[in-house]
Amino acid sequence: MRIIIEDSYESMSKKAALMLAGQILLKPDTILGLATGSTPIGMYKELVRMHKEEDLDFSNVVTFNLDEYVGLDKNDKNSYHYYMFQNFFNHINIKKENIYIPDGMAQDLEEECKRYERIIEEKGGIDLQILGIGKNGHIGFNEPDLKFEATTHVVKLDEETIMANSRFFNSIAEVPRFAISMGIKTIMHSKKIILLASGEEKAEAIYKAIYGPIVPKHPASVLQLHPDVTFILDKDAAKFI
Ligand code: GLP
Repeated sequence: MRIIIEDSYESMSKKAALMLAGQILLKPDTILGLATGSTPIGMYKELVRMHKEEDLDFSNVVTFNLDEYVGLDKNDKNSYHYYMFQNFFNHINIKKENIYIPDGMAQDLEEECKRYERIIEEKGGIDLQILGIGKNGHIGFNEPDLKFEATTHVVKLDEETIMANSRFFNSIAEVPRFAISMGIKTIMHSKKIILLASGEEKAEAIYKAIYGPIVPKHPASVLQLHPDVTFILDKDAAKFI
């Protein structure tokens, strides 16, 4: 495990973008695993800048998003689909057919999870997975649990997560209670993982992820078992490191 501590959110975002760009330069048909939330927004901004000013080429890149809310339409401003196009895909030269995001509106959600997992496998698995972290240690939407959920699955969101994510919605009642998320096994099968965290409110979750016992009650702790994981933190998130 590598731990990189940066002075600010901006330098954390730039470092992550540089690592991701390096991966694409080495392997133009890279399969990326992508995350949402407020943390990676700075990284996406920097990647868009690199595309516009430095010709970083996404034409052969394939992306899989970690998760999506159940019951939100693609055009809903709070869907992760909308977030990804607004913050990233609309501004780079990625091909639409190379973008994969779970469909939270699928009639048969179980089937959608299987389909998603199948496509990841068919494409040869994820080369580089970007992760954020929830205050309760969740990665993707793998919430604290009694067991690690293996593959893409439907999750019931924790009250704490609903509360944290309600800042993006008009009211807490509007926050979906369920989501589709890649599982721990899906994430752990990625060849490389970069986890980003910023701000003091993530400091405890980061400490437990790095030094705590490897337990499903703190999903990010499983990353201790991955052979190529890099934590990129700003100094507030690294407060207890
Ligand atoms: C959501 C997402 C996660 C993300 C987490 C933290 O619940 N499903 O992928 O890591 O929130 O979000 P933020 O970066 O806004 O703190």
